[in-house]
Amino acid sequence: MMNDQDNMLKKTTSGGLSAIYPELRDRRVIITGGATGIGAGLVEAFTLQGAQVIFVDIQDVDGQALAHRLAPGALHAPAYHHLDLTQIDAVTGAISGFVKDLGGVDILINNAANDDRHAIGDVTPAFWEERMNVNLRHQFFAAQAVIPAMRGAGGGVIVNFGSISWHLGLPDLVLYQTAKAAISGLTRSLARDLGRDNIRVNTIVPGNVKTPRQEKWYTPEGEAEIVAAQCLPGRITPQDVAALALFLSSDGARMCTGHDYWVDAGWR
Ligand SMILES: NC(=O)c1ccc[n+]([C@@H]2O[C@H](COP(=O)([O-])OP(=O)(O)OC[C@H]3O[C@@H](n4cnc5c(N)ncnc54)[C@H](O)[C@@H]3O)[C@@H](O)[C@H]2O)c1
Repeated sequence: MMNDQDNMLKKTTSGGLSAIYPELRDRRVIITGGATGIGAGLVEAFTLQGAQVIFVDIQDVDGQALAHRLAPGALHAPAYHHLDLTQIDAVTGAISGFVKDLGGVDILINNAANDDRHAIGDVTPAFWEERMNVNLRHQFFAAQAVIPAMRGAGGGVIVNFGSISWHLGLPDLVLYQTAKAAISGLTRSLARDLGRDNIRVNTIVPGNVKTPRQEKWYTPEGEAEIVAAQCLPGRITPQDVAALALFLSSDGARMCTGHDYWVDAGWR
């Protein structure tokens, strides 16, 4: 017999989000950059699994609207909080507070980033710092803030977001790509140090995902060029990425750690 959660899942999702992981029900999840784009897809996907989701962002209108849209029928309504991830003291304090409120934490999804284009000649030391802070630094400190609770509970899952961009060497993204390349090293290092505590750490490497922000960078012709370079036809959606995040967070992935997992439709 279908319950409300099953009905909601059936009504509101498509394609990549067909799986239900019973163990994700009630799991405590913190998602960064959850107000828009892929992050919003992650918030929706974990909420539909019946998880307890707290998500943070700086886009308050979108964050609150998403929390409001997902609340009806949810086993646990997702909670939105404003948090600027470039402010490390605030990150550490907020995440420790969320862990306290949730009575622990099972899953951290380090999704937030900023892929503003920039030319090499325009980079100043201050801009370097700012790009590393928005694209790399918070992933480490958010992880550091959840580790004690995960250790105490006997395990947990951390999913970091990398990018296909530096693998392809895309133009005008040198600092973003430098930060995203470091995330693979961060993941491997954390996975090694935390594995014996049963904390799994992986990187999701998205290809080009159709989000409102990506539509700002690519014309329809540019999108067509990307699709032509993929093995598979069609555009990758936030739901396709969320489907991988759900699997990596599930008990089915219990022996997966320390690696990059790609969802790129075979873009080369
Ligand atoms: N969309 C793609 O094609 C693509 C491709 C490769 C990698 N990725 C990666 O996937 C993740 C999600 O990408 P997206 O396309 O949804 O990005 P997006 O820019 O659409 O969304 C990122 C979210 O992070 C938030 N954010 C940015 N700076 C923040 C800050 N200082 N504090 C708090 N929140 C902040 C933004 O407000 C936004 O809601 C990112 O890590 C990105 O690098 C995306």
